[in-house]
Parts: sequence; C-alpha cells; structure tokens
Amino acid sequence: MSKTITVVPGDGIGPEVTAAVLTILRSAGADLEYEEQLAGITALERVNDPLPEVTLDSIRRNKVVLKGPLTTPSGTGFRSINVAVRKEFDLYANVRPARTILKGGRYEDIDLVLIRENTEGLYVGVEHYIGMHGDPRAAAESVMIITRFGAERISRYAFEYAREHGRKKVTLAHKANILKYTQGLFLEVAHEVARDYPDIEWEDRIIDATAMHLVMNPYQFDVLVMENMFGDILSDQMAGLVGGLGFAPAGNIGKEHAMFEAVHGSAPDIAGKGIANPTGLLLSACMMLEHLGDHETGGRIRSALTSVVDSGDARTVDMGGTATTNEFTDAVVRALV
Ligand code: NAI
Ligand code: MG
Repeated sequence: MSKTITVVPGDGIGPEVTAAVLTILRSAGADLEYEEQLAGITALERVNDPLPEVTLDSIRRNKVVLKGPLTTPSGTGFRSINVAVRKEFDLYANVRPARTILKGGRYEDIDLVLIRENTEGLYVGVEHYIGMHGDPRAAAESVMIITRFGAERISRYAFEYAREHGRKKVTLAHKANILKYTQGLFLEVAHEVARDYPDIEWEDRIIDATAMHLVMNPYQFDVLVMENMFGDILSDQMAGLVGGLGFAPAGNIGKEHAMFEAVHGSAPDIAGKGIANPTGLLLSACMMLEHLGDHETGGRIRSALTSVVDSGDARTVDMGGTATTNEFTDAVVRALV
C-alpha cells in the first residue's frame, strides 16, 4: 500500500523545485501519494494564515512532510514557520549531510554529516526589548536555553546515527569556554553519552576553531553535532564545501514525525525564472525515501542525479551550466534506470 505524504511547495523557488522533485519521484516509481498543503507567504496571501491548521493536521496524520522553502520576514512580521513546525512536531534532530556530487570544486569527495539540535539554544525565541530613558527599545535580550534532556537526546542521536551509517567519529562543536553554563552543560552531557559508544571515536572542539578547521582540512571530520544556531551557520558553510546551497539536503527528525527540506531558502533573486537547482530538495526526498525504508528508489534517484551532474550536459546556472530547472529535471528522469 502506498504511503501518503504531505507536500508543502512553499514560497519563492519552492513551487519550482517541488514540481521538479515530484516529477522525478513519480518517474522513479516511488510508492507515494502526495497531499499538497499551503504554508508561508503563499498561505498568508491565500488563506490569511502562514501556517493553516489544515496543513498541521495533514502533517499530523501523514507523519512525513516534504517541504519547500518558506520566506520569513527579517526583524519584524510573523515568526519563522520552519521553526514553528519543528517545535510543533518536536523535530529535534536536524540531519544535514554535505557530500560532493559536483566534481572539480575546491574539494573532492567530501562526505560529512552535521547533526543540529533543532528545538533549543538561542532559537527558542525567548527575546524582549528593555526600555530605558524613554527609549522602549534601548536594549534587547535573547535567552539561550540548553536542557540536559535536549543535549542528551541530540548527542545520543548523533552517536546512533554514526553507528547505523558506519561512521567512525563524532565531533561536538561548542563554545563552553565562554558560555560556561549553557554550552558547558551541553559538553558535559555529550561527554557522558560518548561513554556509551566506545566503538565511535569522539572529540569536542570550540565552534570557531571548528569553522576554520572545516575549511583547512574537512577530511578530519565525519559526523558533527552542535546546538541550534551553531548548526544553522556551520551547515551553510559545509554546503559551501560541496558547491553551495543548491546541493544541501536536510531531514528534521522527531520521534514520530519527520520533515524533509532543502537547506536553502526561497531565493527571491531567482524565483520565477525557472533556473533554480532542485538538487537540495531532491536529495532531501531521497533521505525521505530512505527514512520510509525505500532505499532502492532513493539509491536509484541518487545515481541518476550523480550521472547527470557528472556528464555536465544539463547543469543549472549555479553549477556553472545553462540548463533550466525543467531541462535538468528531464535529464534526471532520462537517467533513471
Ligand atoms: P537563500 O538560500 O534563499 O538564497 C541564498 C543564495 O543562494 C541566493 O543567491 C539564491 O539565489 C541562491 N540559491 C538558493 N537556493 C538555490 C537553488 N536551489 N538553486 C540556485 N540558487 C540557489 O537565502 P536568503 O536569500 O538568505 O533567504 C531568502 C528567504 O528564504 C528568507 O526569507 C529566509 O528567511 C528564507 N529561508 C527559508 C528557509 C527554509 O524554509 N528552510 C531556509 C533559509 C532561508
Ligand atoms: Mg539556515
């Protein structure tokens, strides 16, 4: 019996890359039914709610959602819908692989996985202004929250992931030298969890030095785990190691629910032009298939994608080519076996 998933095309280039990915999933014969739902600016414009209850109900029911990027206004306006969905379904583990597909970049054969804590840290949104001397916004404060529970489950997730995927090493990147309480607790807990995994090599490093070492010699890393904001920043950096945001997929995993999305945003600068690279969302869809136990279809799509990128015939603009999203998609479909 085929599995029904929720699909949220999202904003900006979202509908373009989502259409491409659905075409490829259908051509590959993925045993899925798709329930399309609205979220983001698109939903705000059409039904006056950036995160409609019907969308949440659909995700609740189907437990798996493939989501395009959603535009989030900076500074003012509604809170991030991505963050809201991650919180609503307690999608605590954000899994972001960075793997070389496009050859000839700065590095060859990069194969790293960043595991980002997705529900705590500075992104909990505990923020306020402090008024002084007649200025209601004289200062602003954000609170970083780390719990023993949260640090333990993400650390354990990273080690379990390493074991399950045959990986050798877990690196915790932190800032416990300065943030002695919050980051200190994370480090302490991760260190305790590491004792349960003597088969996996473990190290901890300061986040800023980790960023430098990732650029100097990325091959010394394998699985990296860190709190929310550090993971947000370093995962974009890691996408840069493999050719940019167009190649970066992500899974947001909870106990029962999971959301798969590209790391990139709605790319307003190229939206509507038909030139977006759908690879980030396509690789996310492969992660989704593997999450659902269908390694065969996920593997076939990955092979088709790799052969198209390798051949160089239908590269999109961000890969240095001239192909449109549709031309790239057609090439992947033709390469499916
Ligand atoms: P962005 O990722 O949308 O774009 C950054 C740069 O990368 C742009 O030059 C864009 O053209 C390029 N790019 C991104 N994806 C691409 C693709 N698939 N193919 C080719 N080029 C691509 O980041 P930006 O501009 O900072 O954010 C735009 C909006 O997206 C914001 O409202 C932001 O909040 C939102 N956003 C949403 C995310 C999500 O829904 N998961 C994640 C990141 C940002
Ligand atoms: Mg980000």
